[in-house]
Amino acid sequence: MPSIYSATDARAYERLMGRWSRLLAEELLGFAGLAPGERVLDLGCGTGSLSAALAARADPAEIVGLDIAASYVAFAAARLDDRRVRFAVGDADRLPFRDAVFDRSLSLLALNFVADPPAALAELRRVTRPGGTVGAAVWDMAGGLVYQRLFWDTAAALDPAADRARARQFSLPLTTPGALAGAFRDCGLTKVVEGSLTIRMTYADFADFWEPIAGAQGPLGDYVRSVEPGLLARIAERLRAAYLAGRPDGPRAMAAIAWAARGRVTA
Ligand SMILES: C[S@@+](CC[C@H](N)C(=O)[O-])C[C@H]1O[C@@H](n2cnc3c(N)ncnc32)[C@H](O)[C@@H]1O
Repeated sequence: MPSIYSATDARAYERLMGRWSRLLAEELLGFAGLAPGERVLDLGCGTGSLSAALAARADPAEIVGLDIAASYVAFAAARLDDRRVRFAVGDADRLPFRDAVFDRSLSLLALNFVADPPAALAELRRVTRPGGTVGAAVWDMAGGLVYQRLFWDTAAALDPAADRARARQFSLPLTTPGALAGAFRDCGLTKVVEGSLTIRMTYADFADFWEPIAGAQGPLGDYVRSVEPGLLARIAERLRAAYLAGRPDGPRAMAAIAWAARGRVTA
């Protein structure tokens, strides 16, 4: 099992996360840099948020998006029609590329979901040329992702299984303080810099918040699928109260903070 991310429905993913990862992609590019003419890898590309930001922002020679989920890759390829961009299905732990072929290897919101993060980082380093950059971001699950906090804390109050799932979700590899940058150093990257990237997830109303969760992608989706309908309805009702927090239904903006790290490959 190379991935712990249930990626079954690209449109559901777009509503749950793609619309927000597009915003975070801009922040990662600001942090990890980009120069004209580069060959860039987007590892764990999903539905293509980072590849699209790369193609729009600068003038890279080539962008390669790779993901283990064929349905997400097909969606990304259909959305982004650009001769510089290609997408492929593959596993982060065994990248189908020769050594040192990329100038910059990036990964957005994916490294914590691969089965073996140190192996994936070693692969990112291997396929990046000496002097090139590896950069990544993962959500600060426990401390920085308000929508997940709202969901898990509400569900855990009603269901012991949600309590256990919250514990797993909030201790995912690389998502705790210092873990991402530490893993960069451990795999031999140099001049490692750690950062925090912030966006806001702005929902139109409670339905816009809840329906994507019910679309059941990722670890949250695994839990939602496992809950019997009566309990899920009770969770949704309590979640609605938490979302509204005493005000009429309507827009709410929730902060979302990611850990970021970048490092250099030395020969
Ligand atoms: C939260 S999504 C992020 C997708 C995209 N980068 C974005 O920011 O919207 C996590 C992605 O990691 C991918 N993934 C998980 N394990 C993987 C692996 N071993 N190799 C490649 N991709 C993997 C999943 O299929 C999923 O598309």
